[in-house]
Amino acid sequence: MLNELMRRTRSFRRFQEEKRIAPEILSELIELAGLAGSARNLQPWRYMICRHKHHCRQIFPHLGWAGYLPEWPGPEQGERPAAYILCLLDTDICRNGDIDLGIASQNILLGAMAHGIGGCRIASISAALGQELQLPARLELQLVIALGYPAEEVIIVEPEERQDIRYWHGPAHDHYVPKRPLADILLPLPLS
Ligand SMILES: Cc1cc2nc3c(=O)[nH]c(=O)nc-3n(C[C@H](O)[C@H](O)[C@H](O)COP(=O)(O)O)c2cc1C
Repeated sequence: MLNELMRRTRSFRRFQEEKRIAPEILSELIELAGLAGSARNLQPWRYMICRHKHHCRQIFPHLGWAGYLPEWPGPEQGERPAAYILCLLDTDICRNGDIDLGIASQNILLGAMAHGIGGCRIASISAALGQELQLPARLELQLVIALGYPAEEVIIVEPEERQDIRYWHGPAHDHYVPKRPLADILLPLPLS
């Protein structure tokens, strides 16, 4: 069951924008993030929830979508995220929390998918967003997680050519994401 949830927990970039996400679900996702493993248990990540339409409209233009699809400007109106979780590093606690954030953000995405909600991590964020939010100097905005009920199907495939891991859009609101096969990622242990 967990295995199936992990397979379904993909990056979604097109959503049913009008179907809003209950605030209790969003708080629950932050609780799940807070349960994640943390180096030295420092727990340096802070989170902000953005769920009101007018706030979501302010966040959207600051995000970079799908670098492998340069012709695609990102989700069109009506298919934009219904909420965002902003992930901020408290640099008074530590300077680098990347691995912690990887774990915490996966908890968020898994917890969301358990409710049928899709998400996408967005690290491509314009510097202007941090300024617009007038964050205290110690908080660094490093990741935005876009969330919404999916309006696309995401399908895992094997890379067509061995090294080509670029995802693509199919004709019918489908998105194909190549994952390297087990034989490529599992290496023999070089010990005698
Ligand atoms: C740390 C990190 C940063 C990412 N940043 C972006 C981003 O800025 N924009 C975007 O559209 N997708 C972003 N993604 C999503 C990846 O493109 C996605 O994980 C990848 O295509 C594989 O798809 P999957 O998540 O369904 O396995 C990011 C993913 C990770 C883990």
